[in-house]
Amino acid sequence: MSSAVLPANVCDDGMSETDGTESGAVQNFYKEESYIMKILFYDTQSYDKESFSREAKNYPGVEMEFLKTSLAPRTAALAKGHDAVCAFVNSDVGTGTVEELHKAGVRLILLRCAGFNNVDLPLAQKYGIEIRRVPGYSPEAVAEHAMALALTVNRRMHKAYTKVRENDFSLNGLMGFNFYRKTAGIVGTGKIGAAMARICHGFGMKVIAYDVYENDSLKDFVTYVTLDELLAQSDLISLHCPLMDSTYHMINRETIAKMKDGVILVNTSRGGLVKTEDLIEGIRARKFFGVGLDVYEEETPNVFEDRSDEILEHSTTARLLSFPNVMITSHQGFFTQEALAAIAQTTLQNALDFEAGLETGNIVKA
Ligand SMILES: NC(=O)c1ccc[n+]([C@@H]2O[C@H](COP(=O)([O-])OP(=O)(O)OC[C@H]3O[C@@H](n4cnc5c(N)ncnc54)[C@H](O)[C@@H]3O)[C@@H](O)[C@H]2O)c1
Repeated sequence: MSSAVLPANVCDDGMSETDGTESGAVQNFYKEESYIMKILFYDTQSYDKESFSREAKNYPGVEMEFLKTSLAPRTAALAKGHDAVCAFVNSDVGTGTVEELHKAGVRLILLRCAGFNNVDLPLAQKYGIEIRRVPGYSPEAVAEHAMALALTVNRRMHKAYTKVRENDFSLNGLMGFNFYRKTAGIVGTGKIGAAMARICHGFGMKVIAYDVYENDSLKDFVTYVTLDELLAQSDLISLHCPLMDSTYHMINRETIAKMKDGVILVNTSRGGLVKTEDLIEGIRARKFFGVGLDVYEEETPNVFEDRSDEILEHSTTARLLSFPNVMITSHQGFFTQEALAAIAQTTLQNALDFEAGLETGNIVKA
């Protein structure tokens, strides 16, 4: 007997129902006599739905349902009847959630991001729930954003934009410094750090780096130094190492004191790398020429949310935003067309690989 199943691609909260294909192309969704893997997407934004729906025709055998709802212990039960959930960097995949996903019969957690510090890996492993992630979708997307932040705070673009809109054409407060022939210090030279090193090299900067493993592909133009040497010599410090016990609060009062006066610090990696209280103290002490943050410790309730009508009480974010030489973006380093397409392709391939029992480098183990 031949069976045919049309994936639902349904959604909550009135998200529009599109498959990203012209009529007729929808036939591609049919798959004869094979298992259709059901994936429930949490924390879905409209651009997630668009990019995944656009790729869906190339991955028959996968059925997607999109929820705007956040993945958390109280919402995990919605996954009952699904093989997999798809979560993002701001999803709560901690102990309570993994317990509920296990009860709901979920076998796979697909992370549509690189980081996995929000997942209780040992518990997932205990329950036999596999985790697959997208380790590198577009390192250049994040590295280019890191340089955008560095240039913005250096040349005060955020101030210039609002000044000119107010017919204020004076240059007061806008003076920057040349990156050309200055020193860029890259902390972590994996995929994104390497891309940032190449960008800085392209600007004519001297590039130094600190990593626990040296990246041989960069040795033509990057000099590896100790962290202390990097802090002492760099005019621009850009953080690209993961958040782990060993890197938590690596930028703190002590390490800030070792930096050059007038340094620019950029963090596009994870908020926990920087101890915010100490950063604020350093900014107040005029240590930094500028600070660019795409990630910060308090970001979780803010990321991808419109909180413009709220009063942010007791907020270190609000304190950071009060400084003229600080630029904050809300975890948008990854947010380019190329990166979203790559994330969707790899995530859907991860689902098919799981179903086929294929071991790949995208599996995350405890
Ligand atoms: N802002 C965003 O939108 C965004 C998007 C993707 C990734 N990220 C962040 O960027 C980070 C880097 O991503 P990647 O793809 O380059 O990762 P990667 O694994 O390719 O590189 C990480 C590098 O950090 C190094 N490292 C580990 N411990 C270190 C330490 N104690 N000191 C210095 N270096 C250390 C590793 O050896 C490795 O070379 C991720 O961990 C993630 O947190 C942010």
